[in-house]
Order: sequence, then structure tokens, then C-alpha cells
Amino acid sequence: MAATSPQRITLIGLGTIGMSMAALHLERSNTTVDVFDTRPDLKDHVLNTLPNFLGQGSRTTGFDPQRSASLVKSFIESGRLNIHNSLNTACASATIVQEQGPENIAFKESLWAEVESLAPPSAHLWTSTSGIAASLQQGSMRDKTRLLVVHPFNPPHTMPLLEIVPGPETASERVDFAREYFSVQGSRHRPVVIRKEIPGFVGNRLAFALFREACHLVQEDVVSAKDLDNILMASLGPRWAGNGVFESYQQGGGEGGIGAFIEKLSSTMQEVWDGLGKVNVLGDEETGWKDKVISQVNDTYGTLTPERLHEKEERLKDFVEVQGKTYGDSHKE
Ligand SMILES: *[C@@H]1O[C@H](CO)[C@@H](O)[C@H](O)[C@H]1NC(C)=O
Ligand SMILES: *[C@@H]1O[C@H](CO)[C@@H](O)[C@H](O)[C@H]1NC(C)=O
Repeated sequence: MAATSPQRITLIGLGTIGMSMAALHLERSNTTVDVFDTRPDLKDHVLNTLPNFLGQGSRTTGFDPQRSASLVKSFIESGRLNIHNSLNTACASATIVQEQGPENIAFKESLWAEVESLAPPSAHLWTSTSGIAASLQQGSMRDKTRLLVVHPFNPPHTMPLLEIVPGPETASERVDFAREYFSVQGSRHRPVVIRKEIPGFVGNRLAFALFREACHLVQEDVVSAKDLDNILMASLGPRWAGNGVFESYQQGGGEGGIGAFIEKLSSTMQEVWDGLGKVNVLGDEETGWKDKVISQVNDTYGTLTPERLHEKEERLKDFVEVQGKTYGDSHKE
């Protein structure tokens, strides 16, 4: 069945990512969403929380909780959103089963073996894991070709990227289907297929490489946590939202392109690469970098209030919208 056909999606695990995923799927007009979670107050939880993800009310009129709440009720009444307290009924008619449960291999392995016995054999099986490759979750499955990673960036209903990461045994049609599902006309999502399983996939590898150096620079008193954020937001943030790193440097090299850029900056670049910080996140108490980073960040930002989080969320939506307007077709697969 084509990825543009009406789909029935089962979501297992309704934490923050699960709720955001529910909003993502429900935004499409031709989906039915079945949700399952072991928490006893699932229905109240959905009624209370899902409205925050549906973003009804524009930036100018402000968030309209009442409109969002009545939208959730109408999804339930019309049968587009079904709340289950049994995995069996939740999976019975699925065309897609997507899990965002605990990040634990044993849990995922046994979940997939169970889902395999409950869901129709054609159903696509997606895991939202950020760290456990599909090949590590498939152990007990009879048919290992159906499972793949669909790794979102938080929050998935707003952030365009989905990293689709098949394991060596995942069938290519399953990969194509996931990519097509998220790239339907009108979707702001931009799925990218990652060719090999690797810890952190690609987005988090890039983020953690930068984060490591950021912690090092704060630890060494080169810059404060606040100024480091200012530097990013005033330079790489806007630059990279318009061009990626490779396109930027192709442009930066002028007529000679990225080759000339690398040539021109090679000695500085090598000096920086050789001197990159090697902070260790497991232990490493003696340098005390963690306390230093955490207390500076605490002092600068304090505890983020729900209002402030909401404001950040709205700003992110604005950025994504602006980026989407100018996002060239050349980037699409
Ligand atoms: C389902 O909805 C998506 C986007 O809302 C649309 O692109 C697609 O054509 C629809 N499919 C059908 C079968 O109506
Ligand atoms: C930072 O803030 C958190 C949350 O308020 C608190 O639990 C933690 O102890 C603080 N850490 C430092 C080093 O200030």
C-alpha cells in the first residue's frame, strides 16, 4: 500500500515524544491513530497533554487551549484517535506501529516480538529510539525485514528532520515507505535515510561533537556559557539554517569552492582540530567541568517556566516556517 494512502498508526508509549508524534500524524487528514501506554490514567493524560502539541491558535492570537482541547475530543468522537489499554487491540488493525518506549534493549526486543504476533504481517514497524540500532532490537523477531529506526528531533511535530536508519536486514521497500510517508505533499518534514547504523546516527553525532567543544571552552574559561550561546545564535545558527556546512564552505571558498576554502584555512583548521577539547562525560570528576558548566547554565537560565518553553516552541515554529519557504528543491531527495 502506498505511503500516501490512508494509514492507521499505533503509537506505543505516550511520553513527550509519543504525544508529539500523535500530533504529527493527526495533522494529516487521512490517518487514524491508536495509542497505547501502560499508565492507568492514559485517557486523562491524552486529554490534558495532547492539546499542547496541536498548536491550535496562531502566534499572533496566541495558543488557544480550549480550541485544541475540543479538537482532541472531536478526534476521539470521530474515531480518528483511539485510546487503548491493551497492546493487542491497539495493534490489531495497524498499518504502522511506532514505539517510543524506554531506551532499553531487553524491553524493545520483547516488545517487537510481541507486536509481531499482534499486528498484521504487512504493518511497518518503526522505533523512535535515539540510541538503540534496529539490528539490536530485532533479536527475537521472526521477520526482521520490517523494523527500522525513525529517529525524530524533539519536538517531532515541529522539527523537520527524521533520521531513517535501517538495519542490515531491513527491506529496502520498508525504507522507501517511511521516507515517502514523511515527505507527502504539504508536510514540513524532511526525512533523510542514514546508510549505516552508527551510535548517535548523524544529527546527534554533530550536536555532541559541538557540545563537547562547548563544554571544553567553558571549562577553560575561554567564554561563558551565555556568551557561547550568543556566539552560536549570532553566527552558525542563522548560517546553517540557510546553508548546511558543506554548502556554506563551498560558498566561502569563492570561485575555488570548498577546495580553495580548505586550502586557505588548512593550517588554522589543523591547529584547531589538534587542540579540540577532550572532556570526558563518564566520571572525570577531577577537572570538575560538569559542575562548572551546569552551575553557569543554571545561573544564566534558571528553571525554564512553561511560558518560556512555550515561547521558545513558537519561535522554533517561526524559524522552521521561514526556512521552509526558501528551502530549495535541490535539497529534497
Ligand atoms: C493523505 O494526506 C496527505 C497529506 O495530508 C496527502 O498528500 C495524500 O495524498 C492523502 N492521501 C489520500 C489517499 O487521500
Ligand atoms: C542546577 O539546577 C538543577 C535544577 O534546579 C539542580 O538540581 C542542580 O543541583 C543545579 N546544579 C548546580 C551545579 O548548580
